[in-house]
Amino acid sequence: MEYDVIVVGSGISGGLVSILLANYGFSVCLLNKSENIYESNTYYAQGGIVYSGENDSPELLAKDIDIAGGGICNPEAVKVVSENAYRLVKEILIEKLGVEFSKNPEGLFDLTEEGAHSTRRILHVDDTTGKSIEEKIIEKIKSIKNINVLNNFTAIDIITIDHHTKHRLRMYKPITALGIYALNNKTKKVEKIEAKIVILATGGMGQIYLHTTNTTVATGDGYAMSARAGCRLVNMEYTQFHPTTLYHPGANNFLISEAVRGEGAIILNIKGEEFMHKYHPLKELAPRDIVTRSILNEMLENGEKFVYLDATRIGKDKVKQRFPNIYKKCLEYGIDISVEPIPIVPAFHFSCGGILTDSFGKTNIERLFAIGEVACTGLHGANRLASTSLLEGVVFAKRIADFLKENFDFYKTIEKYEVADWIDTGIIETIDPALTNQDWNLLKNIMWNYVGAIRSKKRLRRAIIDLNNLKEDIENFYRDAKLSRNIIELRNAVQTGLIVAQQALANRESIGAHYRID
Ligand code: SIN
Repeated sequence: MEYDVIVVGSGISGGLVSILLANYGFSVCLLNKSENIYESNTYYAQGGIVYSGENDSPELLAKDIDIAGGGICNPEAVKVVSENAYRLVKEILIEKLGVEFSKNPEGLFDLTEEGAHSTRRILHVDDTTGKSIEEKIIEKIKSIKNINVLNNFTAIDIITIDHHTKHRLRMYKPITALGIYALNNKTKKVEKIEAKIVILATGGMGQIYLHTTNTTVATGDGYAMSARAGCRLVNMEYTQFHPTTLYHPGANNFLISEAVRGEGAIILNIKGEEFMHKYHPLKELAPRDIVTRSILNEMLENGEKFVYLDATRIGKDKVKQRFPNIYKKCLEYGIDISVEPIPIVPAFHFSCGGILTDSFGKTNIERLFAIGEVACTGLHGANRLASTSLLEGVVFAKRIADFLKENFDFYKTIEKYEVADWIDTGIIETIDPALTNQDWNLLKNIMWNYVGAIRSKKRLRRAIIDLNNLKEDIENFYRDAKLSRNIIELRNAVQTGLIVAQQALANRESIGAHYRID
């Protein structure tokens, strides 16, 4: 299989860049490891996407992004995103894809507020914004002939000239991507998919943590694959925890959108007392890292496992009408959010770091691009401002597509090397699920307890020792057993966890989402 471009991941970033490139005439292979193409963090995004509010300006947005990011955002990425946000959301999502964002009774966009924003500037579709966007993206993809979607294919490794061809002297030149080895989950055969350009849009890593808002596909694949290939990963210690997820034994950290606080909900401790005023002048609308640590501190002081989010102040009818999905979901767990407070806890939400890219998505590996959560453009610095993740996907999809269109003469000819076929070990032993389940549990607990929202040298050192041992065991499974999506994900997950822990130990300064008590 040979294409102009192979895109790994079908969320907003992978989906949009595929559409834009296909419209420019590129042949695109879109690889997705699930049977269900919609399965991505994008689909579950509730809050919304930055647009433009009253008295708003790119400068004001840039300032908000930078303050939330702890002052270490990449100024170039912030400029690119803040200057293009309004234009590209309008052009791509509203006009091209026809996403129907919620409107007020006057027929104007119903802009909402979220933490650390200076103005109400967030577009949303009720509380299921991501679902509405992703449905439009997939509908479009299905109508485009030069996008070949391969569902149920798990990417294993980036093919590089250096690793996977016999050209020994090639190591003296820059590492160059040639495609992807991917497991066909159904036939269990590994396919070699070659392309002139590889774009990683594999999303995040939430599944390495015990508590997360992320869906099951977020297993850190892109971070681990790119690290094995020689990519530079930065800011990996800036793991953002969302302050408000449902605390319920059956709920698995269902997200309670920040927009609920934006509309007036307040946080109460177990005794029913407000406490955010003790921690930040913006109270409930302080940056996420601050709200998260305030909640954890309050839980510690009161010896409790959760706090409350009181959404009743929004008004009985408004809360149901504005947050129908959250209302319905909580009701399934016996909580009527229009009349009673919601038990909540923080959970892992977003990785602000990732594969370092420039402002056209280029990585330090030739012909390899990265976009979305797996990439680190530097936009988010040490802590991401709410409702900028979908936005980053839109802006960078356009920038990467335009860059490749303009520079295709350079990319269209590639040195010809024969890429080795995947070498199967020939071992057909299947792995005992009791072992892999325990490995997942171990990984998630190590990350949550030692590399969580509050860190110390002792915890991080312990994490690194434990993760190294676990990594070795999992590597042995990987080498000896029949390949499966689960073992590929588990290998990627532990490698990603180790990178996070190592970067967290190396950084002794508390900024944004990285907080060291020592
Ligand atoms: C939320 O709805 O709270 C999530 C929004 C975001 O992470 O940007």
